Amino acid sequence: MVSAQFPRFRSILDQFSPYKPGHTVSAPDGRSFKLSSNESPFAPLPSVVKVIAEAAGQVNRYPDNGSVELTEAIAARFGVPASHVAVGCGSVGLAQQLLEAVGEPGAEVLYAWRSFESYPTLSDLAGVTSVRVPLRGETHDLAAMADAITDRTRLIFVCNPNNPTGTVVHRAELEWFLGRVPEDCLVVLDEAYSEYVRDAGVPDGISLYRDRANTAVLRTFSKAYGLAGLRVGFMVAHEPVVDAVRKTKLPFTVNALGQVAAIASLEAEPELLERVEAVVKERVRVRGELLAQGWTVPPTEANFVWLRLGDGGLRPRGSERPAARHRRRARVDRRSRGQRHFAGGRQGVSPPALSPDSDRVP
Ligand SMILES: Cc1ncc(COP(=O)(O)O)c(C=O)c1O
Repeated sequence: MVSAQFPRFRSILDQFSPYKPGHTVSAPDGRSFKLSSNESPFAPLPSVVKVIAEAAGQVNRYPDNGSVELTEAIAARFGVPASHVAVGCGSVGLAQQLLEAVGEPGAEVLYAWRSFESYPTLSDLAGVTSVRVPLRGETHDLAAMADAITDRTRLIFVCNPNNPTGTVVHRAELEWFLGRVPEDCLVVLDEAYSEYVRDAGVPDGISLYRDRANTAVLRTFSKAYGLAGLRVGFMVAHEPVVDAVRKTKLPFTVNALGQVAAIASLEAEPELLERVEAVVKERVRVRGELLAQGWTVPPTEANFVWLRLGDGGLRPRGSERPAARHRRRARVDRRSRGQRHFAGGRQGVSPPALSPDSDRVP
C-alpha cells in the first residue's frame, strides 16, 4: 500500500494547473483544422518535409547544442551578428530561460493582462512576482505599465501583436515606453505573430533592439513558418542577454529535426509568406463578417480574432457592453497569491499616439 505521505513540492505548484493546450476538434467531414494554439493551418512545405525525413535517419546522435548553422542562417536573414542570436525550444522556452536568468527573490516581472497564458506560470516557476497591468481598449496600456515599474522590476514582456487580443502597440508609444524603462531592466518584445502584421505603424522589434542594450526580441518558427510541432524559436538581443540565455539553457534542447527544418523554412520563406498572406486575407474576411453581425472584435494583426467569452461577453454589440464590464472587473482582480494586480493609474506623462489601434489592413 502507498503511504499517505507524498513528497513535498514547492507550494507555488498548488496555485496553477499544468498548461492546457487548445482542444483538437474534428469535423465529421474531416475538413477541420486545429488552430486553437494559433498555429498554421498549412502542412509544412514538401521541401521542408524532405530535409526532416533525411535528418530523421541520424537521430541516434545528439543535435548541435549551439544550433550553429541555424543561428548563422537567422543572423544572415535578419541582418544581425550571430552573437546576437539565441535559438531555443520554442520562443516559450526562451521566455522561460530569460525568467530564470532574472529570477531572484523579490524580483518582479511586468506584463499586460490578458496576454500570453504562459507568462504567469513561467514567472511563478522562476520564483518572481508577476505584476499584471490590465489591457486598456484590449491593448497594452503602456502608460500604466510605465507607472508600474519599480526598482524590483527585472523583466517586462510586451507582446506585439498581443495574444489573445491580436491588438498592437505602435512605434512612437513603444519607443516612449522603452525610454521609461531603467537600463538594468530587460524588455522582451514577444513577436510570435510578427509575420502577420500589416499595419505599417507597428515596429519590427529587431529595428528597436539595436541601440538598446536592455531590449530583446522573441520570434518563433511555430506560427508563420508552420513548425509548431518541432519547437524552434529564437531571440535577438545584445551579447550579455544572449549569454544569460545560453547559461539557462537545458543542453540539446533544440532538436536536430527542428534545426534543419528551420533552416529549410528560411530558405523557402517566399513560399511560406504566401501562405501567411492567405491567412491575413482570411482574418480580414472573418473579422468583417463578425463586425457585420454586431460582434465586438478588436482590430487584429495576428492570425486569430478575439471574442471575449463568459460573463455575458459573447453577445452582439448593442445588447450590452460586456467588454467594459469585464475590464472594470480586471482592475480589482487579485486572484493568485504572489501576483500583484496594478490598477493602472494614468498619472505622469502619457505616451504619444495612444490612439485606438489602426484598423488598416490590406
Ligand atoms: C505571444 C506568444 N509567444 C510565444 C508563444 C510560444 O510559441 P512557441 O513556443 O511555439 O515558439 C506563443 C504561442 O502561442 C505566443 O502566442
